[in-house]
Amino acid sequence: MKQDRLDERAREILIRNDRGGYTVPNGRVYPFQWNWDSAFVSLGFATLDLDRAWREIETLFAGQWQEGFLPHIIFWHDDAGYFPGPAIWATGRNPPTSGITQPPFAASAVHALWKAGDPQRYRTNLEKLFPKILAWHRWFAQIRDPSGEGLAVIVHPWESGRDNSPEWDAPAQKIDTSAVGPYERRDTHHLDASMRPTQLDYDRYYALVQFGRSLGWNQRRIGQENPFRVVDVGTTMILQRANRDLLQLAEALGETGAANELRQRIAKAERGISWLWNEQVGAYCSRDVITGESSATVTSASFLSFYAGIRDEARDRRLLQHLERIAGRVKYLLPSLDPDDPGFDPVRYWRGPVWAVVNFLVGSGLSAAGHHSWGERIRGDTRELIGQGGMYEYFCPVTGRGVGGDDFSWTAAMWLHWARGDSPTP
Ligand code: DGY
Repeated sequence: MKQDRLDERAREILIRNDRGGYTVPNGRVYPFQWNWDSAFVSLGFATLDLDRAWREIETLFAGQWQEGFLPHIIFWHDDAGYFPGPAIWATGRNPPTSGITQPPFAASAVHALWKAGDPQRYRTNLEKLFPKILAWHRWFAQIRDPSGEGLAVIVHPWESGRDNSPEWDAPAQKIDTSAVGPYERRDTHHLDASMRPTQLDYDRYYALVQFGRSLGWNQRRIGQENPFRVVDVGTTMILQRANRDLLQLAEALGETGAANELRQRIAKAERGISWLWNEQVGAYCSRDVITGESSATVTSASFLSFYAGIRDEARDRRLLQHLERIAGRVKYLLPSLDPDDPGFDPVRYWRGPVWAVVNFLVGSGLSAAGHHSWGERIRGDTRELIGQGGMYEYFCPVTGRGVGGDDFSWTAAMWLHWARGDSPTP
């Protein structure tokens, strides 16, 4: 498809999925506002209407809890097409929300929106959002960083955004599913089950929702007692970068106290993130905080260190060697799982497929770290995948086929913001 037509298509998708101030990832499969989806989507809207882009983030933060926690779903209205819906989560909030969070990309999105517009015009928007984002980042530091080293613990695979990555397989064995009871999945009504997490995965997802609900969604207790507690390499890297971007916003607003706080947090994480480095594997890997065990798995998230601004010559060299090897095994970068991993499945969600948003983070991170040819390779592959396969939720790295939901908001947004065109990555 021609570039103009693709641009138009991407805009149509965003407009069609706009529910008036917030955007659904896909109307059938995901009919609510999702946290990190919205942050990515705002970058797409920024190419057509910057006011609307800010609004996307503002509606997202309308679902923030008093304590700073920002839920992963805001249920602006009910929809029987999704499980688990608001009545299952039962968080007792208004608007109704889920009780878990998602990777904190919002600060980086707001930083990009701020850079894209006239600072005078958007100063009030930023002044209102800044304390809310800061409160969310503080919540991560207080509730999800038990060792105080700048790491980010997830208490549900959904919090990583990479729901069925094999990184969670071993830690998830601690989840007791014996009392889950009957329930009906909705995702497999809309999509082929071979592209989705397994039934065992879902039993565990649901058991964790029941666990959180049994604690009345007391986040402090969940952070300490949840049977699944893993430092997610993805969330940790995204948070580190988000803290850097938030620091720039703090400086723009003259918030010196917040800026100092953020500087300290960033410095701590620069040291703390080493805990995720697996020397044997030669990559950053997620790590179970209960057992201390590394996932020892190379996933697309392992390459987010460049995006996070974590630099180490020897480690970077080993990561680039992995990238080189992976590029020799599949046609399109970046598969969500190492193709040499025995669990690799090119169409099953986060066990192999390529995702445009992760490509954006890893690709722009590599370019910013001076590895332009890798950054551009990933951007070019994304462009080709979307151009040939359509604006799908994810793509097969072997054939390029679009899989999962179609007309996907964040894929459309990544087209408009990053993948289209010939100009090098900003
Ligand atoms: C889902 O329902 O598949 C989502 O990823 C949960 O956030």
